Amino acid sequence: MSAKIIDGKEVAKSIKLSLKPRIAALKEKGIVPGLAAVLVGDNPASQTYVNSKAKACDRLGMYSEVIRQPASLSQEELVEIIESLNANPKIHGFLVQSPLPEQIDEPEITVHISPEKDVDGFHPFNVGQMLIGRGKLLPCTPHGIIKLLEYYDISTEGKEAVVVGRSNIVGKPVAALLMQKGKMANATVTIAHSRTSNLSEVCKRADILIAAIGRPNFISADMVKEGAVVIDVGINRVDDPDTEKGYRLVGDVDFEAVKEKASYITPVPGGVGPMTIAMLLSNTVTAAENIGS
Ligand code: GUN
Repeated sequence: MSAKIIDGKEVAKSIKLSLKPRIAALKEKGIVPGLAAVLVGDNPASQTYVNSKAKACDRLGMYSEVIRQPASLSQEELVEIIESLNANPKIHGFLVQSPLPEQIDEPEITVHISPEKDVDGFHPFNVGQMLIGRGKLLPCTPHGIIKLLEYYDISTEGKEAVVVGRSNIVGKPVAALLMQKGKMANATVTIAHSRTSNLSEVCKRADILIAAIGRPNFISADMVKEGAVVIDVGINRVDDPDTEKGYRLVGDVDFEAVKEKASYITPVPGGVGPMTIAMLLSNTVTAAENIGS
């Protein structure tokens, strides 16, 4: 069997389309939803992400700002920027792009972001709300994964979901969402990671396998059950002298081999990636609605 390819671009487009009437309704009230991204240093991947976020806002008629700062920025200076964004009425949501330089204590930074404007859903208040099933601003990549499954009518009810990776951005929150009581949840969830014994056997139990471990082509076909749904969150740069840029992007899943075994699979690029941005825009509109009402 060759898997059906989950088209993240198509799903992201439908989500962005659904935001249009909400943005129009806000504009009727004189509110233009505004998103800011703080970029510290010159990490090339981060620059690409932040530019795509700004472009996506423009296309939907939303306001956006990118605040670029040198890699030498201090913790105190970053906190000041956050406080000014918390107070800025044009900005309804903002994020501080990861990774941050090592002098910055990232978890400490997150606490300064107003939970109402925390469109990443990383503030401990929003993490807690999500965990108890009351999240209003859900983390973008995990929520995007749920939306992909929903769009393709892939039930999670009673399924074995295995999440490989335990990051605060993806692994832990996607597991938390899938284990909730409710629609597009009710899964039996295992979190596996680099220290898991018998990782291969654990992965092989999965009806839904989510790879978020950050290692190129890590999930091989022999780790996947026949007919599993495979969601690849990885975005890894691997050297490729044959390409113009000298590298290409690959996921955490050995796509070519695994697609012969899975029932559904997300490609990289064009799978989960576009969903992260769509959900960020969606959270910004939600934040503007919440703040404006
Ligand atoms: N770096 C990689 N993914 C993300 C994300 O979702 N949010 C932020 N702020 N930084 C990231």
